[in-house]
Amino acid sequence: MKKYHGAFIKNEREIACLREANRMVANILDAVGDMVAAGLPTMRLEELARDMCADYGVKPAFLGYCGYPYALCCSVNEQVVHGFPSLRQLEEGDIVSVDMGVIFEGFVGDAARTFPVGEVSEEARKLMRVTEESLYVGIEQARAGNDVYSIGAAIQDYVEAAGFGVVRRFVGHGVGARMHEKPEVPNFRPGMRGLTLQNGMVIAIEPMVTLGTHEVDILDDKWTAVTRDGKWAAHFEHSVAILPSGPRILSISDRGLDRPGFVG
Ligand code: MF3
Ligand code: CO
Repeated sequence: MKKYHGAFIKNEREIACLREANRMVANILDAVGDMVAAGLPTMRLEELARDMCADYGVKPAFLGYCGYPYALCCSVNEQVVHGFPSLRQLEEGDIVSVDMGVIFEGFVGDAARTFPVGEVSEEARKLMRVTEESLYVGIEQARAGNDVYSIGAAIQDYVEAAGFGVVRRFVGHGVGARMHEKPEVPNFRPGMRGLTLQNGMVIAIEPMVTLGTHEVDILDDKWTAVTRDGKWAAHFEHSVAILPSGPRILSISDRGLDRPGFVG
């Protein structure tokens, strides 16, 4: 693999592996979304994800990563990211952010989505919609020649125009043979110049958006990030290859991407 200022440039075969890893992740997220319902303990989603990994013959990427104890992150309501699956039952009106990764032939797939549990409030629906839209606004900037920070700049502008906050504490990242590679991909404007994106880079873009403050705290379990003000948060993530034809979303399930203008 070639390197550009510390970031790996992937060849066609490597991008094909990343695409396959991410297809599996997206299929798992589809199945998770189908299962999400009031009364369901989030641990059932963990079991589903592990079963699907076993069927695919792949390893979950998060399990054991820096000591993380599960295959999935399930973050409910004011939990932003890195929530543990548990016996806690989802309730009607909750939102649950599910983050999933797998390792296929040595390559990591990484994607996340926030799902509504039954009927959710208008405000929660807007939060999810703005977060997902902001991801696509960011992806639009993932082009060779652009500064990597133009992604976060576009995300931040979009999110703040909607009156919401964008989390600074966690960022997107290059992804490949390791889950976290260079460059870092903030969802905000860091106020300096960053790396210039090159064809062959693959990055995970993952805005975390809050109804109130962007400040987060970490719970005593050392992982679960919650909003400081207790207001709800949403999280959407795609892994994206930067190609001469433009940004190519890799985390697309067999159901496809219902998104005019974006290729998978
Ligand atoms: N999508 C997250 C990330 O990119 C998931 C990592 S959870 C961890 O950082 F437990 F594996 F750290
Ligand atoms: Co990620």
